Amino acid sequence: MDHKLLFAKVLHEQGELPFDIQTIKQLIETPKRIEMGDFAFPCFALAKHLRKSPAIIAQELQAKITDPIFDHLEAVGPYLNLFLNQEKVSQHIFKQIMEQGSDYGRNQNGKGGTVTIDLSAPNIAKPFSMGHLRSTVIGNAIANLADKNGYQPFRINYIGDWGTQFGKLIVAYRKWGNAESIQQNPITELLKLYIRFHEEAENNPRLEEEGRKAFKALEDGEPEAIQLWKQFRDESLKEFSRIYDLLGVHFDSFQGESFYNDKMDEVVEILQEKGLLVESQQAQVVKLDEEEMPPCLIRKSDGATLYATRDLASALYRKRTYHFVRSLYVVGNEQSLHFKQLKAVLKKAAYAWADEMEHISFGMMLKNGKKMSTRKGRIILLEEVLQEAIERTETIINEKNPNLSDKAQVAKQVGPGAVIFHDLKHHRTNDVEFSFEHMLNFDGETGPYLQYAYARCKSLLRKANFTPSSQVNGVTDEQAWPIVRLISDFPNVIRTAWNNYDPSKIARFALDLARSLNQFYAHVHILSDPDHQQERLHLIYSTAITLKESLRLLGLKAPEEM
Ligand code: ARG
Repeated sequence: MDHKLLFAKVLHEQGELPFDIQTIKQLIETPKRIEMGDFAFPCFALAKHLRKSPAIIAQELQAKITDPIFDHLEAVGPYLNLFLNQEKVSQHIFKQIMEQGSDYGRNQNGKGGTVTIDLSAPNIAKPFSMGHLRSTVIGNAIANLADKNGYQPFRINYIGDWGTQFGKLIVAYRKWGNAESIQQNPITELLKLYIRFHEEAENNPRLEEEGRKAFKALEDGEPEAIQLWKQFRDESLKEFSRIYDLLGVHFDSFQGESFYNDKMDEVVEILQEKGLLVESQQAQVVKLDEEEMPPCLIRKSDGATLYATRDLASALYRKRTYHFVRSLYVVGNEQSLHFKQLKAVLKKAAYAWADEMEHISFGMMLKNGKKMSTRKGRIILLEEVLQEAIERTETIINEKNPNLSDKAQVAKQVGPGAVIFHDLKHHRTNDVEFSFEHMLNFDGETGPYLQYAYARCKSLLRKANFTPSSQVNGVTDEQAWPIVRLISDFPNVIRTAWNNYDPSKIARFALDLARSLNQFYAHVHILSDPDHQQERLHLIYSTAITLKESLRLLGLKAPEEM
């Protein structure tokens, strides 16, 4: 139940306030200190309407309103402070969670509408960069939030599988390549070929020309070129899919850039028909002067289309095919202008749905304050990062819990989970400093800390042989209240996290919940008092479900033992 809403309703009805319920709800505050109550209603705004002082209004309201779920109300100066009835609220939560299980917190606001989410989108034959990792985990969490808010997410991996680099790769492969090593280590080998091509091209400009020719052959559909391109693409995708398995992310579509090769003429025609295409410096562009942006390049003088042309084609295709109610692009900050232009061009072409397109941008991954690059020389392969996280986790588990039965499996859930959580706990637009020490610290603000909190709940419930019951009382321990409050706020957190495309709201919530849980453990001996054991176990049970669901929304697994 949304207690804030309930308070607003009661104020509206019993208090006969001259504001509507939503307005009242917006006025209600959540005091910083728990001793000040669960909610506070400031009476200043009413003073003018009622021609009384705020303090008098607060006192009058206190006398007028009651509800079984309220423990008591206090008029403190101009504020009316509400204390909820802990026993009743917790009992209600226990019931709700027992009935709804992991569906707790779900809403139907999205009415089943499709949200396409463009995420990950690595470039074939290049290593999976930290930027692509960020896009993958942020996009996946947002897709999970879409689903939880009643939408139908559709995850699209718009892989970079076309472009002049494939001409260069074909040339390099024919000169220095070897099919077997590409099969074994596609990304590394293709990257080597790519780097070698550029090194040799410095002294041999003819190579560039050969590369252009090879790409032309590819565009013209020459079978041998196509076959090589396919091979590079398939092998790279296989390697990427190992990373996606480690991260536990799946996609509904892998339609990448090449899929739109035959869909761009239409874009050019549409823009021409609508009179938007103009010649500028030997290229065809859409001017965006009124929007105070540089022109959007559509076609070069040699007929070649551009990144934007392809994204226009893909936007049209996605609207027609999936009838999205929203279309999200989870791509780094540095492409902000591109997405602004994309939207502006579609709006100029009178596609009203362009308003439903949104660029979900994010900051960089840093190492020692510098951009973590996967380019030449300083290559850090993401798969190695994930494997290292797994190995380090195994070492920690060996120290902490050497008797754990399925250590390797748990490490596989905890290691990558640590990497994912470290990314998501920061607001996405911030830069993130990469650090194994920070990610894997079981006592810090980390994924493993949350997973451990969950496993601890489960172990306690196992030990107590717990089964939930609808006959249970509420919980009255002082240290239980912060937990109950957090759990009852979960549906709100889910809404705000989605409305702001902000998974860090869920991450913060989970950290707060785990911290309150540890406080509770520190003060209350759950199994030692048979009179209160049942409600305390229900509290643990409800916390476990909420924690696990928070982890799932973020894309983390929750091992039952750890
Ligand atoms: N492959 C691109 C890159 O690595 C990202 C593509 C993002 N999605 C899109 N629809 N443009 O920069």
